[in-house]
Amino acid sequence: MPPRIVTLERHITEQQKLHPAASGRFTGLLWEFVLAVKMIAREVRRAGLIDILGAAGHQNVHGEKVQKLDEYAQERIAEAMLNSGSVCAMASEETPDMIPIPREAGRGHYVFLFDPLDGSSNIDVNISIGTIFSIHRKITPGEEGTLQDCLQPGYKQLAAGYVLYGSSVMLVFTTGKGVHGFTLDPTVGEFLLSHPDLRMPPRGRIYSINEGNTASWDPGTAAYVKHLKEKNEADGRPYTLRYVGTLVADFHRTLINGGIFMYPAAPKPKLRLLYEAAPMAMIAEQARGRASTGSGRILDIVPTELHQKVPLIVGSADDVADYETFVRKARPKT
Ligand code: AHG
Ligand code: MN
Ligand code: MN
Repeated sequence: MPPRIVTLERHITEQQKLHPAASGRFTGLLWEFVLAVKMIAREVRRAGLIDILGAAGHQNVHGEKVQKLDEYAQERIAEAMLNSGSVCAMASEETPDMIPIPREAGRGHYVFLFDPLDGSSNIDVNISIGTIFSIHRKITPGEEGTLQDCLQPGYKQLAAGYVLYGSSVMLVFTTGKGVHGFTLDPTVGEFLLSHPDLRMPPRGRIYSINEGNTASWDPGTAAYVKHLKEKNEADGRPYTLRYVGTLVADFHRTLINGGIFMYPAAPKPKLRLLYEAAPMAMIAEQARGRASTGSGRILDIVPTELHQKVPLIVGSADDVADYETFVRKARPKT
């Protein structure tokens, strides 16, 4: 018998049975998000043509203003969330403050946090980029979402996921019952379940870090990376280095193949807790991996500001545990 084709819609309907408290509003929100994603994916595919299509006065063939891809992604997703009528608070890596939700849009119980375009520096060189999202439930009373609703620790996320605009477009997400991956079939415009119940291998053989920062690493990171490069066939060393520079792409490879991705504390943390680290950490843990700052669980961090940055060490459970051991050993004794 050929494998059963499971569309995203069928999958969500089936998943809803696992969450007795789940409401149709959550599904509606996801639909709106998926529509925005399909529109972004279409623009990504045409990215190299935008200047041609939009020549003279920066208008495209439809007479629309030609936008930068990250602005376009930001606007499509924000608009989709307003259309869903299910969101009381929204914040994005691209805007300094929370995004206002007008009363007329209707307000629901969900808090939506996102990185509309991850890996922006890779757009112009035709390398994979992504979108990341995180969903919380409103915790403050009243109809309007507040900063407090956005600043919740990652372990409270209801859902988290990402879209990878790669050689194919994939949506990978979790609602706390495992991690599932869907691939967009461009011929029918549907996301089809291609990677059910993803599990990170307990150990990998690939490490991912910006090696250009070697001179500024903390001693623990430096000792750990040195260890990975030493030859020891018994435990698969030396590891192979892969670094795309798009978190979504580096994380996706780590999820599928195992290994470790590091953006350490030194020279300085770069990745944002709410829009990057926390959602990836939830996905990693749901896939039996681990996500750490090097000394603590990412999902336990209580955010203090919207654009807070944290070190992110994520990947196969055994590899991340090894990193933490190296960091612990390198710490000066007090
Ligand atoms: P963004 O494009 O959303 O600002 O994120 C870029 C991030 C992330 O995708 C990637 O892991 C990291 O920047 C790479 O940083 P370096 O160039 O410093 O290695
Ligand atoms: Mn990013
Ligand atoms: Mn971004």
